[in-house]
Amino acid sequence: TVDADLVIVGSGFFGLTVARRCADDLGLKVLVLERRTHIGGNAYSEAEPQTGIEVHRYGAHLFHTSNERVWDYCNRFTKFTNYVHRVFTTYRGEVYPMPVSLATINQYFRKALTPAQARGLVAEQAAELDTAGASNFEDKAISLIGRPLYEAFFRGYTAKQWQTDPRELPGEIVTRLPVRYTYDNRYFNDTYEGLPVDGYTAWLERLADHPNIEVRLESDFLHDGPLGKAAVVGQVPVVYTGPVDAYFGNAEGELTWRTLDFEQEVLPVGDFQGTPVMNYADEDVPFTRTHEFRHFHPERSYPDDATVVVKEFSRFAGRGDEPYYPVNTPADRQRLLAYRDLARGERGVLFGGRLGTYKYLDMHMAIAAALSMVDNKLVPHFRDGAGLT
Ligand code: FAD
Ligand code: NA
Repeated sequence: TVDADLVIVGSGFFGLTVARRCADDLGLKVLVLERRTHIGGNAYSEAEPQTGIEVHRYGAHLFHTSNERVWDYCNRFTKFTNYVHRVFTTYRGEVYPMPVSLATINQYFRKALTPAQARGLVAEQAAELDTAGASNFEDKAISLIGRPLYEAFFRGYTAKQWQTDPRELPGEIVTRLPVRYTYDNRYFNDTYEGLPVDGYTAWLERLADHPNIEVRLESDFLHDGPLGKAAVVGQVPVVYTGPVDAYFGNAEGELTWRTLDFEQEVLPVGDFQGTPVMNYADEDVPFTRTHEFRHFHPERSYPDDATVVVKEFSRFAGRGDEPYYPVNTPADRQRLLAYRDLARGERGVLFGGRLGTYKYLDMHMAIAAALSMVDNKLVPHFRDGAGLT
């Protein structure tokens, strides 16, 4: 028998938020199983040993939210810096601000257009194709922003992100293309934004730090054993945040994901690119972007003769790769519906988080969803005796 009131599979933001609230508000004894050697899921970060610079191991993580409740909850476990995210892109040897704004448009066309003039120009160029008739990514994008801006800022980047010619990608993945007719180049529009003052891992550790919470690392719920699925399900309620297809042995087929490869280097310079993120829009540059992690924390004293730069490459995930972004093909959506039916029928198990719901979730969304699962499912079950489905 398992010595806990609730078992949580996965120690990412979703799992740890559920664990903490169940321990705090319901007094439950919670056992968190994590298959990796560390907590925190994809938000995990660590100091690069040579420089001490904090590196986000699974890709750069920027925290932002407009959700008051999420912001308040997060602030119980960490303070945030006043970091504001900005992105630039290199295209044919020139650097432009992103997302595409009035600054980008004027630089690209070598003009000094007003907002109204820029709207007029883009509308004129976009008139080349009709949005309603556009079936692939390229045509749809051109129908929205015109060919010149599409070819400079979207075609190469998209082709690299998807390893697919944009003419072969479905038009429906473009619903809107971010273009701003102002000089505002703040990347996020949310009310609150910042980075955890002493890093993501310290934040995640404080979230897990409660006498009623035990985290067991290197413990894979889908392997046999006393803490495996076969032994636990039916004995103790479970919140599962691993991949939903894997839970059911891929019975309905595998859901497809994109993954990222990271190439990390320590360079003997104090500043490599002058900014945290540089995108590369040219198709013949094989990576999509470079992150220079020191710039996420200008307030810290990092060495002035060394820096950490990570190149990011995007591709379809194979077996054994980390699943990062749902591809979400029509076949995936069919399979997901089948898995949702199976999940509903799985008594005493709730599926949540990015992998458990096959949805890209930002951290604030994962935390919001976790708070809702506690309110709507776990409190009614443990406090009022409602069933758990
Ligand atoms: P995860 O963090 O993925 O945690 C799931 C955990 O479950 C993992 O630790 C995994 O090892 C564990 N697990 C899986 N299967 C098993 C099993 N069988 N047994 C035991 N344990 C298991 N969000 C932002 O807000 N801003 C960003 O800038 C941002 N950038 C991102 C960049 C990338 C590349 C990715 C992939 C995500 C990014 N996110 C960002 C999203 C953020 O990482 C997620 O919100 C967060 O990871 C969601 O948390 P989660 O707990 O649902 O999933
Ligand atoms: Na269920």
